[in-house]
Amino acid sequence: MRTTRPGRLILLCGLPGAGKTTLARRLAGELPAIRLCPDEWLADLGIDAYDEQARDRLERLFRRHAHDLLRLGQTVILEFGFWSRAEREELRLAARALGAAVELRYLAAPLEELHSRLEGRNATGGRGTVPISRDMLDHWATLFEPPTPDEMALFDEPATSPREDTAG
Ligand SMILES: Nc1ncnc2c1ncn2[C@@H]1O[C@H](COP(=O)(O)OP(=O)(O)O)[C@@H](O)[C@H]1O
Ligand SMILES: [Mg+2]
Repeated sequence: MRTTRPGRLILLCGLPGAGKTTLARRLAGELPAIRLCPDEWLADLGIDAYDEQARDRLERLFRRHAHDLLRLGQTVILEFGFWSRAEREELRLAARALGAAVELRYLAAPLEELHSRLEGRNATGGRGTVPISRDMLDHWATLFEPPTPDEMALFDEPATSPREDTAG
């Protein structure tokens, strides 16, 4: 019987503008990996990005789909932002139960920098980008639970891409 090596889950954590989608696109090509991005899917489905119920449903589907892919040995990137430690813990334990490795990549930048990046992104309005105001970002920053070093230590080391492996 052919056995499949369990896959790897990559959680991208950070506020809007932190660079999750930018990093996910790069990793998807380099590792390679499959990225599941709620903002893009909601836009493609014609659903308002601020429809919280639809977003929750889509994220639940993505989690199920991610588990199927992990069982097949794939690398999956989730770009949900993961503001709460409890949510990060839930995903880590569920993926580990499948035998998969789980990375947490935390992207941080000063609030002023996030503001200015979002201003730029709002102005270009690329596919699947959600317009975000300064007030919303300031409010969300008060809800965000940054991962602590002890939490980061509970996750696996980041995978290196084949390109990085041969770089030196
Ligand atoms: N490390 C970075 N330094 C400067 N600008 C960045 C960086 N990463 C992303 N950006 C820019 O900031 C904006 C937000 O990035 P994005 O990847 O869409 O963030 P997120 O998906 O976390 O909301 C984009 O316009 C992107 O080009
Ligand atoms: Mg994004």
